[in-house]
Amino acid sequence: MQLYDAIHRRRTIHDYVDATLPAGAFERIIEAAHQAPNHKLTWPWRFTRIGRETRREKLLPLGIRLKTPAGRDPSPKRVAKITQKLMHPGELVVVSVVRCDDAFRAREDYAAAACAIQNLQLAATAEGLGAKWSSGGLTTHPETYAAVGIDPAVEEIIAFVWIGVPAKVPEIKRPAIEAMLREVP
Ligand SMILES: Cc1cc2nc3c(=O)[nH]c(=O)nc-3n(C[C@H](O)[C@H](O)[C@H](O)COP(=O)(O)O)c2cc1C
Repeated sequence: MQLYDAIHRRRTIHDYVDATLPAGAFERIIEAAHQAPNHKLTWPWRFTRIGRETRREKLLPLGIRLKTPAGRDPSPKRVAKITQKLMHPGELVVVSVVRCDDAFRAREDYAAAACAIQNLQLAATAEGLGAKWSSGGLTTHPETYAAVGIDPAVEEIIAFVWIGVPAKVPEIKRPAIEAMLREVP
């Protein structure tokens, strides 16, 4: 797939078919992410590939608990929805950034990691797959750090990135570029 096609076709995919990725796709996608630019060559991104066991045994119960009002039992409908969300995508990659004390460098490191995530999403599109950058409550919960083995004193989780076979590709109407583009003579 040509680069411009991948850029224009990429959409945030919310619904996935319950399927694994084709052989080699994950490795190609993550290598594409690793090609992102990074100032001063700090290589700030870390990718943690989360297996199905951790998703099912740790993240799913936590996700259900976070979405259920205290003292109530989760409804079967809610459990089914969260199960689909957490278990259907073929892959879950937790993206974290190595912390540093310098505020300017930390900002640049976050920007570099965001470039890596976009590379990842474009590569997934080029593979005929879909991806989603998620930054909701589950992604940064203290119990999530423990579940995925990331020390919050050392790294900050910035995204859960889901990768898989899209069940549905949403349409997004973007504002015309003229609203964002200024030209100065
Ligand atoms: C920093 C960042 C965080 C995001 N977090 C979420 C999220 O938590 N949940 C979600 O549904 N989409 C999330 N998205 C995806 C956006 O909702 C999506 O990019 C937007 O709706 C535009 O759709 P498109 O990606 O198909 O162009 C995030 C995107 C970015 C860049």
